[in-house]
Amino acid sequence: MSTKGARNYRPEIHFTPKTGWINDPNGLVYVDGVYHLFAQYFPEPHWGPMHWYHAQSRDLIHWEHLPVALAPDELGLIFSGSAVYDARNTSGFGSAEKPPIVAMYTSHSEHEQQSIAWSTDGVNFNKYEGNPVIPNTELRDFRDPKVFANPIRGGWSVVLSVGDRAMFYASEDLKNWTKTGEFGPDGNRSEGVWECADLFPLELGGGEKWILLVSMGPNKPNHGARTQYFIGNFDGDKFVCDTPFDRAEFIDGGLDNYAAVTYNNAPDRTLIGWAANWVYANDLPTGNFCCQMTLARKLSLMHTPLGGIRLAQQPVLPDFNPTERIDGELFKLTVSGEGAATVRLTNGGEWFDFGVNNENELFIDRSHAGEKDFNADFADDWYSKISAPRLFDGHWTLELIFDRSVTELYCDGGTRVMTNLVYPTKPYDRAEVLSGNAKIEISK
Ligand code: FRU
Repeated sequence: MSTKGARNYRPEIHFTPKTGWINDPNGLVYVDGVYHLFAQYFPEPHWGPMHWYHAQSRDLIHWEHLPVALAPDELGLIFSGSAVYDARNTSGFGSAEKPPIVAMYTSHSEHEQQSIAWSTDGVNFNKYEGNPVIPNTELRDFRDPKVFANPIRGGWSVVLSVGDRAMFYASEDLKNWTKTGEFGPDGNRSEGVWECADLFPLELGGGEKWILLVSMGPNKPNHGARTQYFIGNFDGDKFVCDTPFDRAEFIDGGLDNYAAVTYNNAPDRTLIGWAANWVYANDLPTGNFCCQMTLARKLSLMHTPLGGIRLAQQPVLPDFNPTERIDGELFKLTVSGEGAATVRLTNGGEWFDFGVNNENELFIDRSHAGEKDFNADFADDWYSKISAPRLFDGHWTLELIFDRSVTELYCDGGTRVMTNLVYPTKPYDRAEVLSGNAKIEISK
């Protein structure tokens, strides 16, 4: 249960529910200039029987809160899923003039099955009377459908997270589904189960590559719950990986980005993650709400000298303007340097350190950043200090977006990103270079 910390920790530009608990982003779909964001939701500030929260935005920064879209029913709790814009009304739920949004989610009870719901006004959702559309009476973990328009075979595809693997299904009408393939268990670095898979193409040198995101349930070696990605190809039926499995990468080198998935139908491939970690999320000191999303991030692929082809992320930000000093709780630090350097953000007594170490790794240290005793794991060094190798040599530029209790750190064009929660009991008001050769610019 979320506790009440020393002060208001609600971030400004990171999405939070008005009250209650959220986890995974669900149903990310862009329709007529509007970005819909649904989320796993319980009305009290802790995990409980899951609903879908709903909000919408035109800029991915300012959100309008809408009524809860889906509530538990006789098929079970409403676990994670996705949504598509059915512009040609293949499902028959709408009409040519009023095409539906169709959401696909997991009905969670003794067995997990996939169900759908539709809306023609973007606010009120009706569950399909033929649910479940992908029944299951055998598998224990069979969830988190990511449905998408299949550009190769036409129609729709869905990727499901099934224990230690991903499964692919196809459909013409979103109601009748046939299995087309599997990926895994090779590449499963999880002691937990795979969750919230996503599959999408990104442009690379005139061609394209397909990215499979897989969130890997909480396990200690991975520093809790984190999202991994594979690069490969999709033949319309199944994904084939071309990165070696021992080199699989997390999309975020920090501790607080899980269940990250991308928008359907949007002009750019845009990702949002849950900015928390299952290891301690239920205890965050935020009072009547619990948990937040990451900033939305535009994705691309980049050739890196030390890591080959890698995912790069650019945050969607409001305008920031240069300022002399930190005088608020939403600001950006741009730090450029060479070699090892440590930058400290501090309020006098507490500090959050970040920078590049002697091994050419990006690092953060939140072990003295503020409140931490609300959860023993959050207070533990294993979940307070983390590093990841840079994919470039030489000169670097870091961007730190600070939003009251969430930090997002971008390095080398977003080829390394670290998202981490911090709870300073007084706002940080100073940034300084603690060691090394670096220059800080502040903007707000
Ligand atoms: C991932 C997850 C999903 C599941 C949901 C339940 O964080 O465990 O696999 O659908 O959360 O809230």
